[in-house]
Amino acid sequence: MKVAENQPLDRLNTFGISARAGILITIETEEDLLSVPGFDPARDFVLGGGSNVLFVTDVPGIVYLNRLSGIEIRRENPDEVLLEVGAGESWHELVAWSVARGFSGIENLALIPGLAGAAPLQNIGAYGVELASVLDSVTAWDWHTATWVVLSKQECLLGYRDSLFKAAQPDRYLITSTRLILKKHFTAQVAYSGLAAELEKSSPGGTSLADVFAAVIRLRRKKLPDPAVIGNAGSFFKNPLVPATLYQQLSDRFPALPSWDAGGAGIKVSAAWLIEHCDLKGFEMNGAAVSGQHALVLVNQGQCSGLAVWELAQLVQARVWDTFGVRLEPEPKIFRFAEVG
Ligand code: EPU
Repeated sequence: MKVAENQPLDRLNTFGISARAGILITIETEEDLLSVPGFDPARDFVLGGGSNVLFVTDVPGIVYLNRLSGIEIRRENPDEVLLEVGAGESWHELVAWSVARGFSGIENLALIPGLAGAAPLQNIGAYGVELASVLDSVTAWDWHTATWVVLSKQECLLGYRDSLFKAAQPDRYLITSTRLILKKHFTAQVAYSGLAAELEKSSPGGTSLADVFAAVIRLRRKKLPDPAVIGNAGSFFKNPLVPATLYQQLSDRFPALPSWDAGGAGIKVSAAWLIEHCDLKGFEMNGAAVSGQHALVLVNQGQCSGLAVWELAQLVQARVWDTFGVRLEPEPKIFRFAEVG
C-alpha cells in the first residue's frame, strides 16, 4: 500500500482533467484493505483506470487507486476456462492475453480503456457483446461490513451500462477481482453493424479469433477518438431507452433515427444521432467539445476544466431535450464535491 498527500489526478483520468486528491492510497494487495480508513462517498473516490470518470472538482478526501493484479486459471475443462482477474489488470491486456491462448468471448471488447475491475460496474459492452455474457462472479470489499463478499452474476444486477455497483449500491463495494468464463471453441460474433465488413476488409475470408480481435481494434481506432491523443472518457451518454409511444412519434418525424428494440424495456435510440442532429457535433465551449469524430464523445481540447466538460454536457442534454423530448443520461461517474453548510 502506498499513501501520499495532496496528489495530482491529471494523469490518472483519461479526460486529462486537472484535479487533486487530498490523500492518494494505492491498494496493491487485498490485505491492504484491512487497514484503510474507510469510505465516505461525499469526499472519497475509488479509481481504476480513470477512463469513465469526470472530476468536476478536486477530491478532498481519499482517492483509492485499485492496483490489485493477477490473472489465474481457476478451473478448466475441454470446453471452457474459468479465469480470476485482479481488478487492477488492464482490460485490453486481459483480452489480448485471452486471445493469445485461444480463449474467446471477450474479443469484441478489445481496446476498451480501463481496468478489469471496472468492467462489471458498467457492464462494458461493444460490437454486440457485453461483459454479462462471460461474467461468473465478482469478489468485492464491502465498505459497510469491512469484509470481502462474493457476488454471483445474478447478484451483480447487470443491465445496459448498469449494475448493482452503479445503481442500487453505488458506494458500497470496491471490486477486488472478477471471474470470467471463456470458451475454448471459437464462434465469431460479427452481427453488429460494420464489424463483418471490417473483418472482410482487414482479413479477407478470415474468421478466426485473432481476425475478429484485429477487426475490432481497427474499427474502434477508426470510429473513436484515442484518449492518449485527446482527453475523453468514451461515450459520455448512454443510448436512451424511450417508450414505444414516444419512439413512434420520433420515427415518424425522423425516419433515419437509428434504433434497437430493447425487449420489454422500450426502444433504444442512438444518442450520437440525436446530438449530431442538434448540430452539436464538433461544438466547442471553454475548451471542452463534442468530438467531431463521434458525437457521443465529449473531449478535452487541451487544458479545460472538469466544470467546462460538465457545463457542455448539460448544454447537450438541454438541446436534445428541447429538440426531441429525450433525456440523455451521462455514462461516466461524475465526482463533484459539494461543501455542506
Ligand atoms: N452516429 C451518428 N453520429 C455520430 C456517431 C454515430 O449519427 O457522430 C450513429 C451511427 O450512424 C450509428 C449509431 O449512431 O447508426 C451507433 O453508432 P456506434 O456504432 O458508433 O455506436 P454507439 O451506439 O454510438 C455504442 C457504445 C460504445 C461502443 C459502440 C459499438 C454506448 C453508450 N456506447 O456506441 O461504447 O463502442 O456502441 O458497440 O452504448 C463506451 O461505452 O464508452 C463506448 C465507446
